[in-house]
Amino acid sequence: ERPDALRRDLVGRKILVSAGGTREPLDPVRFLGNRSSGKQGYAIARLAAQRGAEVTLIAGYTADLADPAALEVIRIRTAGELKEAVDKAAVAAEAVVMAAAVADFRPSTIADSKIKKGADEPDTIPLTRNEDILAGLVRSRRDGDLPNTSVIVGFAAETGDAHGDVLTHARSKLARKGCDLLVVNAVGEGKAFEVDHNDGWLLGADGSETALEYGSKALMASRVLDALVSLLERGGA
Ligand code: CTP
Ligand code: CA
Repeated sequence: ERPDALRRDLVGRKILVSAGGTREPLDPVRFLGNRSSGKQGYAIARLAAQRGAEVTLIAGYTADLADPAALEVIRIRTAGELKEAVDKAAVAAEAVVMAAAVADFRPSTIADSKIKKGADEPDTIPLTRNEDILAGLVRSRRDGDLPNTSVIVGFAAETGDAHGDVLTHARSKLARKGCDLLVVNAVGEGKAFEVDHNDGWLLGADGSETALEYGSKALMASRVLDALVSLLERGGA
């Protein structure tokens, strides 16, 4: 179902979408990775192009997704490469959608040769925090370095825990990141990762909270783009 596929409300708009997961190498054959399929980000990139946008897709590792037709695709492997590519492409973008699943940490050192069992085997893997790309974009814009970028969209996959429910965590993430829109997927058993359906919320920096009812990733994409378009038309949040 692609209810808004024919709406041409993004003609001439430059949109940057990141999608898929990053992999952080540990040695020549191993990495730290995540289960992102890239499907949600690809759906947004594809639909934005159908709605007329000039889309740049920065893609990490995905579940074997075909490159969407008629848009520029830049491949990245690590969070560091993703940051470099996003920072470069964001300069021209009017809206940035950070759907990529960015590794929060990388192994502090990458072994030159394969790590072997035996006397020298490690019992822990020291990790170093990766830079927060989304927060960096928000900072750059605040500092006046992204004059073209009026909309910055973040994603969050959240579960409830002892400190609060999904919405509570999502509201504080939106405040912490400072983006204009946060797309929140409620994750739990069988939800969000590697499946074709999501549910969650769209939280706006203006305090708006819209439920995203259970639907396909194409439908989710159209909801996200509807919200993005209305922010773009208002000239940003
Ligand atoms: N993100 C990013 N750079 C990072 C980590 C995350 O740009 N190093 C972006 C993601 O692309 C996403 C948003 O930030 O749009 C939220 O990611 P998430 O992992 O939910 O946020 P974190 O701040 O890493 O919080 P957590 O500790 O819950 O993982
Ligand atoms: Ca994270």
